[in-house]
Amino acid sequence: MEEIKVAPEAPKPEKKKTILSCIQPSGIPTLGNYLGALKNWKLLADEFDSAFAVADLHAITVRQDPQKLRKQIMEVFALLLAIGLDPEKSIIFIQSQVPAHSQLAWILNCYTQFGEMSRMTQFKDKSQSHADNVNVGLFAYPVLMAADILLYQADLVPVGADQKQHLEIARDIGNRFNGIYGKTFTIPEPYIGKSGARVMSLQDPMKKMSKSDPNPKSFVSVFDQPETIMKKIRSAVTDSEGGVYYGEGKDGINNLMGIYSCCTGLDYDQITADFSGKGYGDFKNAVGEAVVEELRPVRERYEMFMKDQAYLKEMAAKGAESASRIANRTLTKVMKKCGFVLP
Ligand code: TYM
Repeated sequence: MEEIKVAPEAPKPEKKKTILSCIQPSGIPTLGNYLGALKNWKLLADEFDSAFAVADLHAITVRQDPQKLRKQIMEVFALLLAIGLDPEKSIIFIQSQVPAHSQLAWILNCYTQFGEMSRMTQFKDKSQSHADNVNVGLFAYPVLMAADILLYQADLVPVGADQKQHLEIARDIGNRFNGIYGKTFTIPEPYIGKSGARVMSLQDPMKKMSKSDPNPKSFVSVFDQPETIMKKIRSAVTDSEGGVYYGEGKDGINNLMGIYSCCTGLDYDQITADFSGKGYGDFKNAVGEAVVEELRPVRERYEMFMKDQAYLKEMAAKGAESASRIANRTLTKVMKKCGFVLP
């Protein structure tokens, strides 16, 4: 009998991996946010299916002035467009406009242990710096973050080094739920860039550069004007020793070298060679100029987007609609598995 030849199955197009990340609108984002996270978002966005959000629900874990918060949410949303993310290619949205985040967070709270949350270093730090308002939201913050990630079945989460512990707990929560109910969530991996993962304060290089630092000289904001950037970098704390090289006890210079390397692509050996025999003044000027050039196009595009609030609102609504479609799919799956009766 003649053998029937079966045409080989056409190979399925490989599904692109998904990345997701968020930034809080708790102040004007800093050079640390930019080099540690935003710059990588832009680099990865073309390669992956991607979703990026303004994490405004996270921001209210410390007290916010409503008017200021409203303004900052739109500023950070405009920044996401200004760094070059394309709303046609990435889902760019505001967290609170997608109710599934709060809904899944509640469910996941019931699959997270009190002891696990008490060990989070960010909770310990923030409950010290906001001792008058150690609220339950601050405590459960990492669970909301796990919900943000797991809703989108994210494979990869580009963050700075300070978010690594939160990523680990998101993985634990996802694995625990999958273990009880069968595979429901993709377990995400952190993506932490080689350089820029931990940009330090310009005034205290043992401390992370932070947008909520009360001393504005300690950080460069992504919207600072060139002369402000130059001034802040020139007044960065260094040491009295004088050589531009990476080493122990040279936290200020190490930090500036990291920043310079991120902005220019030069490695540390090259930087040391280029500045051999030169003083910190020359080096700081070069770092300042590199930062100015890195941030210039971002600031210019930001200023342009901020002039068109109607466009920003329209893009946010469009982003929320696309995000909701994906998030609700996961939420429905979770609710069915838990035993809820769906309408
Ligand atoms: P947030 O808003 O503090 O910071 C946004 C991103 O910037 C990174 N970052 C830094 N990187 C290097 N050096 C620094 N000095 C520096 N400061 C901040 C952060 O690591 C982060 O990647 N909990 C998150 C927001 C969030 C989130 C999520 C992130 C909410 N849900 C889901 C990823 C996935 C936060 O507070 O980031």
